[in-house]
Parts: sequence; structure tokens; C-alpha cells
Amino acid sequence: MEIRRFKIGDEAALFRVFFSAIHGIASRDYTPDQIEAWAPSDLDPKLWVSRVRGIRPFVAEADGEIVGYADVQPSGYIDHFFVSGDHARQGIGSLLMRRIHQEAKLLGVDELTSQVSKTAEPFFVLHGFHVVERRFPICSGVTLQNALMRKTLKCET
Ligand SMILES: CC(C)(COP(=O)(O)OP(=O)(O)OC[C@H]1O[C@@H](n2cnc3c(N)ncnc32)[C@H](O)[C@@H]1OP(=O)(O)O)[C@@H](O)C(=O)NCCC(=O)NCCS
Repeated sequence: MEIRRFKIGDEAALFRVFFSAIHGIASRDYTPDQIEAWAPSDLDPKLWVSRVRGIRPFVAEADGEIVGYADVQPSGYIDHFFVSGDHARQGIGSLLMRRIHQEAKLLGVDELTSQVSKTAEPFFVLHGFHVVERRFPICSGVTLQNALMRKTLKCET
């Protein structure tokens, strides 16, 4: 398993991971309408390409196959965090989380934040995050409950 930086050409594989994580894993916690609003099968490919190029995620690759990805922004905000439905509970998310923590240290940020799905909340709790606020954002006319979560990072001198 390799964790590497995003490169141009990864976009379609990342969409497959995003789609499979939401339709295959998060579908246990959200209704079909919510799942379709969150990850529509007809998502505009141009929009997707500009979205993933904009966040510059870390990519988890096993035997040449992209199986997960996650980003951290210079502010410490994690925008996307997804592991393919076929590769859940194999430690891939934890490897990505470890890489994000290393990057946060390099960036000098003192906290990590994310808007976390109901599905991912126990995973984020395991990695030291706590819920700041429960939120009910509307996506394509459908409410998608999530939680703003935060982790304060220790300053090391
Ligand atoms: C959340 C997610 C990223 C976790 O990735 P993962 O590779 O499966 O995570 P790991 O294998 O490293 O899990 C480590 C531990 O986190 C916890 N955990 C992970 N997924 C969990 C889940 N769905 N429910 C409860 N606990 C979970 C468990 O304690 C797990 O250890 P265990 O498997 O030994 O019990 C992945 O399930 C996912 O993509 N989910 C759907 C999409 C989503 O909601 N993304 C987040 C958007 S904010």
C-alpha cells in the first residue's frame, strides 16, 4: 500500500472511489435520495476534475489500484475523505489519516477540522476528533446530516 500525492490523470479513479464509498458504505446511514444527492451518477465530469484538482488529495494505491483518497487544506480543513466500498475496514482510512497528520505538522496548523458524515463519525472519533456542532446542510434540495468535527493538535517544541 502506497500513500502518494494526487497526480493529473487520477481524477476518474477518484470518482470511482467517491461513488463507491458513498453508495457502498454511507448508504447504510442515509436514504437513497440522500445518497443520490450526495454522489449523483451523472455528476458533471468537468466539475469533478476541477474539484479534485483543487483539493490536491493524498491517494492510497494498492497494486496499482486507487482505493482511497483524502486531503488536508493549509487551514487544516479536511474536505474529502473516502475509501472504496470494496476496501473498507482494512486500515486504509487510518493510513490516510496518519499521512494527513504528518502533512498538518509540515503545514504548521494547530487544528484539523472536517464536516463528517454520520458514517465516518466513529472513525474520526477514533482518531481523536470531537463533534463541535451537528449540521443539516441541503444538497440538491435534500438535507444531508453531518457534524463539524475538530481535533486540536499538540504543539511540539
Ligand atoms: C470512514 C472511512 C473513510 C473509513 O475508512 P476505512 O479504511 O474503512 O477505515 P479503517 O479501516 O482505517 O478503520 C479504522 C477503525 O475506524 C472505525 N471505523 C471505520 N469505519 C467505521 C464505520 N463505518 N463504522 C464504525 N466504525 C468505523 C473502526 O473502529 C475501525 O477499526 P476496525 O475495522 O478494526 O473496527 C470509510 O468508511 C468511508 O469512506 N466511508 C464512507 C464515506 C464517508 O462517509 N466519508 C467521509 C466523508 S466526511
